[in-house]
Amino acid sequence: MTGARDLLQRYLMQRREAGEEDLVLEQPFGSAAGRSDRQAATNSESGRSEQRHTSGAVERQRPSTGPSDGLPIANRETEEGSRTGRVAERQIPPAHPPARQSTRRRSGVVQKDWRDGAPPIPPPGVVIAPPASDLFTGDELAQCNLEAVAKRVGSCNKCRLCDNRTNAVPGDGPADAQLVVVGEGPGAKEDETGLPFVGRAGELLTDVLQAIDLVRERVFICNVVKCRPPANRKPLQDEIDACVAYLYRQIEVIQPKVILAMGGTAAETLLNTKRSLASLRNRVHSFRGIQLLVTYHPAALLRNPNWKKPTWDDVRIARQLLDR
Ligand code: URA
Ligand code: SF4
Repeated sequence: MTGARDLLQRYLMQRREAGEEDLVLEQPFGSAAGRSDRQAATNSESGRSEQRHTSGAVERQRPSTGPSDGLPIANRETEEGSRTGRVAERQIPPAHPPARQSTRRRSGVVQKDWRDGAPPIPPPGVVIAPPASDLFTGDELAQCNLEAVAKRVGSCNKCRLCDNRTNAVPGDGPADAQLVVVGEGPGAKEDETGLPFVGRAGELLTDVLQAIDLVRERVFICNVVKCRPPANRKPLQDEIDACVAYLYRQIEVIQPKVILAMGGTAAETLLNTKRSLASLRNRVHSFRGIQLLVTYHPAALLRNPNWKKPTWDDVRIARQLLDR
């Protein structure tokens, strides 16, 4: 039987003979999503869940058109590879691509640099001004560095979420991070380890960051609430209200260049709005003087691959904000 690679090569040759352009990867991240598409998705947008269902639903949502359909070629070929036993290292980008140019693979497929076709920086959005006076005056939190915030989180009992936690998950990353990523709240694996985004959504987040040449360890990653909500439900408003001061202090200490709010809970909380995530995307908001972008939660991408393309656009905007 003709192998998939031969078929691909023949197809590419025919395209070239027909004068068509090279194939181009639209979204380089997708290895974790590829895994998860097979393993299936989670039960809430935050995806903190380790509860899994079988993969059919996700597969059915996929577009089935050509390479510009928003579905990473990496995914298709990973799946192909899993059938043929030939998973090549092809489309997953290296952690630090050496050069800016697109690189042509032996297969003829071109690996796009994140800059190629990156969307322009969008217009301003919501502005959240710094508090008029220091709301934390007299509050010990105002004096806390990141370690001290983490310590307080670890012994916090300001809301009911402390009842069932194994570990609080304050957040992780360097104090001089240029980018702060904010999710919703810890899931099972995070509760188990005390670290944010270490489950399947976290693997995808790592891939997303890598795709814009960011090393995860250089990013501060945290959540709106620091303890796991039972059964991975969305955090309730009073829980968010009790916890959000820790997040504010973390952002205040770090003073990142960009905040990436992933998912509705982070976006609504930081921008103090109930507007839809879709309407908050593609704007450069300002949170207390810090540029803030909104995008889909990685767990949402595990469920709905159609959101990978917009997410890829969003993180390329984030990357440009970091660079400017
Ligand atoms: N989802 C989140 O919102 N946060 C995590 O830390 C993990 C999954
Ligand atoms: Fe404290 Fe936040 Fe945990 Fe609630 S979720 S107990 S406010 S650290």
